[in-house]
Amino acid sequence: MIRSVQTTFVIEGLKDKVVIITGGGHGIGKAYCLGFGRAGSRVISADIDGTAAEQVASQITKESATQALAIAVDVADEPSTKAMAAQVLNRFGRIDVLINNAAIFATVPMNRGRIETIDPAEWDQLMAVNLRGLFFCCRAVLSTMRAQKSGKIINIASGTVFAGSPGRIHYVTSKAATIGFSRTLAREVGSDNINVNVLAPGNTLSEENPSEETIRLRQSSAGLRALKRVQVPQDVVGAMLFLASPLSDFMTGQTVNVDGGISFL
Ligand SMILES: NC(=O)c1ccc[n+]([C@@H]2O[C@H](COP(=O)([O-])OP(=O)(O)OC[C@H]3O[C@@H](n4cnc5c(N)ncnc54)[C@H](O)[C@@H]3O)[C@@H](O)[C@H]2O)c1
Repeated sequence: MIRSVQTTFVIEGLKDKVVIITGGGHGIGKAYCLGFGRAGSRVISADIDGTAAEQVASQITKESATQALAIAVDVADEPSTKAMAAQVLNRFGRIDVLINNAAIFATVPMNRGRIETIDPAEWDQLMAVNLRGLFFCCRAVLSTMRAQKSGKIINIASGTVFAGSPGRIHYVTSKAATIGFSRTLAREVGSDNINVNVLAPGNTLSEENPSEETIRLRQSSAGLRALKRVQVPQDVVGAMLFLASPLSDFMTGQTVNVDGGISFL
């Protein structure tokens, strides 16, 4: 039920674009980084795990004829996000795409229990990363994108938002909020030719060394899909490249759902 999917996409207009991917050190974010590298973009893998970000950047420069930069960032800390944007500008002189993918989810784990079991301190910490992080990263790049009169911001929701999902209500709430945030930001920045869209992955086997229990959890969605298999990180990369490319220049404020056909929006 788990099979390999296409990993290289050639999309006109992504070559040399400067693309920041937060949470780019692991999981789906790593797959985005490698996908943009193969498309010829200049990739910034930005992660709280600086070692993982470095490994991804060096994999990109080894396998693709493009440049890559690793940045250690805590998206929940505004000065850290400003330093990230400054470092990118210093190295590349522009910022074309920001993908707000970092979240408390698997690599930094969360309580997956019901509402009564969630510690309010964990609720606050999750909102600090998943939502304040989004707010801070957008603020860090917007003055550059406004001055360029171009830019693409892609925020990450989740299939759990559309049908609801028992357990981890803090996480699902944070992901639902990315949609309202993005619709509002799209209207605030559209006059500067900046697009803001959302990509919502379905239940994806993103863990590097998944436990038996995690594999079971990911396999549980396969039977619910129109396309009956386990979703892997590479399944989401094509839609992400599309949202970052000129092919989607007249799309903004939209949510693209990539889940193999579980929720039909
Ligand atoms: N895997 C799924 O089933 C699934 C489904 C829907 C949506 N998503 C979303 O996709 C994105 C990637 O998910 P994933 O499965 O790869 O999860 P993951 O936990 O493997 O990846 C998240 C990345 O964010 C980084 N990170 C965590 N806190 C950070 C911080 N404060 N600052 C900077 N980086 C930080 C982690 O180190 C990690 O590299 C997340 O936004 C997640 O909510 C995942």
